[in-house]
Amino acid sequence: MHKTMSTVSRVYVTRQIPPEGLEILRKSGQVQFELWNSDDPVPREELLKKVKGVDGLLCVLTEKIDAELLDAAGPNLKVLSTMSVGFDHLSQPELKKSELNFVCVCFLRGIRVGYTPEVLTDAVAELTVALLLTTSRRLIEATHEAKTGGWGTWRTLWLCGYELANSTVGILGLGRIGIAIAERLKPFKVKKFIYTDVAPRPELAEIIQAEYVSMDELAKQSDFLAVCCALTPETQGICNHNLFSKMKNTAIFINTSRGGVVNQEDLYEALSTGQIAGAGLDVTTPEPLPTNHPLFTLKNCVILPHIASASYTTRNAMSALAANNLLAGLRGEPMPKELKL
Ligand code: DGY
Repeated sequence: MHKTMSTVSRVYVTRQIPPEGLEILRKSGQVQFELWNSDDPVPREELLKKVKGVDGLLCVLTEKIDAELLDAAGPNLKVLSTMSVGFDHLSQPELKKSELNFVCVCFLRGIRVGYTPEVLTDAVAELTVALLLTTSRRLIEATHEAKTGGWGTWRTLWLCGYELANSTVGILGLGRIGIAIAERLKPFKVKKFIYTDVAPRPELAEIIQAEYVSMDELAKQSDFLAVCCALTPETQGICNHNLFSKMKNTAIFINTSRGGVVNQEDLYEALSTGQIAGAGLDVTTPEPLPTNHPLFTLKNCVILPHIASASYTTRNAMSALAANNLLAGLRGEPMPKELKL
């Protein structure tokens, strides 16, 4: 049963979220919320205690929302709002858990979930382009050389990289973000966009005149390969030896989706043996990637600490959408962005 508008719901917010979202919660008069008032994740033990009896939960992507947590929360919990577009940290079967008995389908949890697509598309696409250019034009190596005395003189092939003009850009997983990346890359005179996905997506592909190809062709043809798919059991580790071994040795691999889609041992091998030219990663497994990880030893691997959506505008928009999803869900109304479980 949904709460009526006059009922104040109890909510736990697992992180200090940007001000726009907090303001929406405060002004709503609809929730009484407790906040983990820190920029660091709430310790799991604390989280398990704090969620007990709440009606709603607003979390970020570092919180694993699984059976243990949902059991700790108890039956009042009916709405979960994550301040992220990714939802691989949520156990979907547990959230919607139902039981079939002789009489009916009983929903044991039936928790509704809000997430934050679209508001971060521009920021993620922008960062992806920045990471691609940083990797392909070797900007980190170049600034390091300039700062540490490696800049002896102008040399003909020193710090040469690969350019976008006349290139083929491959997109693994064509959605809003893939389109936004392609739209930004087009003015760099890309020759061709290709993509692969579980099935062709003609209406999206038309926007950027992208051609649907098999995974093998994506690997073989791409000069730049951008991973834009969600992490699911099907995409776990799909960027592996099989893919890298078919790529050009001049190719640049970029991942701003989730670290779990990449087999990092295979990527290390591909980069260190020159099987591919470079990789730019905004996401890794685990996060943070330990500073002694072999990938950090490679000059041709640029690693960022998961900052694709990190602009003030976008993070505020994400927090506002997460707050509005939560409030709508608690009112029993359709959420602005609800995840279909
Ligand atoms: C998300 O929202 O899932 C991004 O990875 C971080 O903004």
